[in-house]
Amino acid sequence: MKHMVSTIINGERRELAIKPYRSLLDVLRNEAELTGSKKGCDVGDCGACTVILDGKPINSCLVLGVEVDGSEITTIEGLADHTAPGAPLHPLQESILQHGGAQCGFCTPGILMAAKALLDETPRPTDEEARFAIAGNLCRCTGYTKIVESILSISGSEGAL
Ligand code: FES
Ligand code: FES
Repeated sequence: MKHMVSTIINGERRELAIKPYRSLLDVLRNEAELTGSKKGCDVGDCGACTVILDGKPINSCLVLGVEVDGSEITTIEGLADHTAPGAPLHPLQESILQHGGAQCGFCTPGILMAAKALLDETPRPTDEEARFAIAGNLCRCTGYTKIVESILSISGSEGAL
């Protein structure tokens, strides 16, 4: 039996029929057709599924879809405004591109959402705070330095949030 869940995803109200055992990650990728959040481990180890739930970064594989009724979610698809053709990337996306902080890109959506949550709370994070914010996000390609540089280079800048 499915449950109806009403939530706001990337600023849009969504009414979704959800099986009670489905994770939020599966709901986002399948029912909501937002495949930007990645499934690396499905057990809370890799951070590839990170989204922002009511202002906090969470591993969406560890939350049940039925738990988000009445909540607000931002996924990687909602980071930049894609409503206008040719709209610019979010500053975090631009920065990670410019700093070479994305290689295969599998970890990138989760890292960007963790970084966005950090900058929302702490517009000028220290190196240590930036590293702590992405401590739950595994990257097998970059060695993290370029990711941290991309976060720090836009911290406090206008439009970073
Ligand atoms: Fe959720 Fe790895 S897929 S933490
Ligand atoms: Fe490949 Fe991070 S860029 S896992």
